[in-house]
Amino acid sequence: MRTFLLLGAAALPFAQGIRVVQSNDDGWSEGNLRTFFDVLNSAGHEVVLSGPAENQSGTGSSDAPPTTVDSDGCIHASCPGGSPPTGANVTDPRLNYVNSFPVTSIKFGIDVVAPKLWNGAKPELALTGPNVGGNVAIQVPFSGTVGAAVYAVKTAQIPAIAFSGKTGDPTAWNASTTLHSRVYADLALNVTTTIINSGKPYLPANTFLNVNFPAVSDTECNNLSEFKYIFTRINIGLLSARDADWCGSTRLPWETDVVNRDGCFVTISPGDANDKTTVNDAAVQQQIITKLKPILSCL
Ligand SMILES: *[C@@H]1O[C@H](CO)[C@@H](O)[C@H](O)[C@H]1NC(C)=O
Ligand SMILES: *[C@@H]1O[C@H](CO)[C@@H](O)[C@H](O)[C@H]1NC(C)=O
Ligand SMILES: *[C@@H]1O[C@H](CO)[C@@H](O)[C@H](O)[C@H]1NC(C)=O
Ligand SMILES: *[C@@H]1O[C@H](CO)[C@@H](O)[C@H](O)[C@H]1NC(C)=O
Ligand SMILES: *[C@@H]1O[C@H](CO)[C@@H](O)[C@H](O)[C@H]1NC(C)=O
Repeated sequence: MRTFLLLGAAALPFAQGIRVVQSNDDGWSEGNLRTFFDVLNSAGHEVVLSGPAENQSGTGSSDAPPTTVDSDGCIHASCPGGSPPTGANVTDPRLNYVNSFPVTSIKFGIDVVAPKLWNGAKPELALTGPNVGGNVAIQVPFSGTVGAAVYAVKTAQIPAIAFSGKTGDPTAWNASTTLHSRVYADLALNVTTTIINSGKPYLPANTFLNVNFPAVSDTECNNLSEFKYIFTRINIGLLSARDADWCGSTRLPWETDVVNRDGCFVTISPGDANDKTTVNDAAVQQQIITKLKPILSCL
């Protein structure tokens, strides 16, 4: 009987479950973030979500002590006016707001919420977004979604992936789930699972991934099997050293060009956590290509 139960447990798709911290810059209750939270939980991961109480889009790496929530309350009425500087959902302690910047929010998740819920254990992976709107090229340094990922990598030494999706407006957690939120959460899970399956360390030191999803609609790019994952650069790289030898070239395509192409292309760029530009070291790029190989395509 016992053997039977153990075999049953081993057959569940939860074997790869890890500890994840999530954040974003659109607010802790935004639909893309909450849908990804649900999808990660369904995949068997243990997740702590700690996001800003308000829209903090474009605040980069700003960090400041959280303050009492103003009289308007948290975004989308997700907490009452005058709420304390930090707080959790009344019935689900994994869902947390921080009335400050994205960096402050993810830091609170890593330093305060995660150890409390996980007996002192630290997250193994940080996932930010999917951001509402793309974060490519010159937008990257200003993005709070990227800022939070870079904080995780550089300061907390937790590997991180920043996800952004072109389609959609910020949506409340209690509105019906949108098509773009569902598609982006499933695509983000695919990239996340591929990285987890590649083994630890999940990413080279001081490196994050900047992932951008294309437009999604009722007629195009809504079925996971339609998407192709392309390894790209954040910056165009005209003058930089050769990139890894990949897809018959030593210059990776630029994420902006790929995102703007017709077709369902997901771009994955290796980001340098020191300056939020492309990792230019071809050997480090190659390590990441090896990890992502099960999903990567050439243009
Ligand atoms: C969030 O802030 C950004 C930058 O200020 C702005 O462009 C965007 O429209 C805001 N979103 C909402 C839902 O207010
Ligand atoms: C809090 O969690 C409950 C239970 O999961 C959920 O029904 C509710 O919508 C959540 N509210 C917020 C603001 O997260
Ligand atoms: C979501 O919850 C807030 C706060 O309780 C409420 O004001 C709002 O009407 C709800 N929205 C929907 C679509 O249910
Ligand atoms: C998605 O695409 C695959 C391959 O083209 C197809 O077999 C499948 O039926 C599609 N799924 C949906 C929900 O359209
Ligand atoms: C990712 O998506 C592709 C295409 O739909 C699929 O073949 C692959 O198995 C997925 N990988 C993971 C790890 O989910």
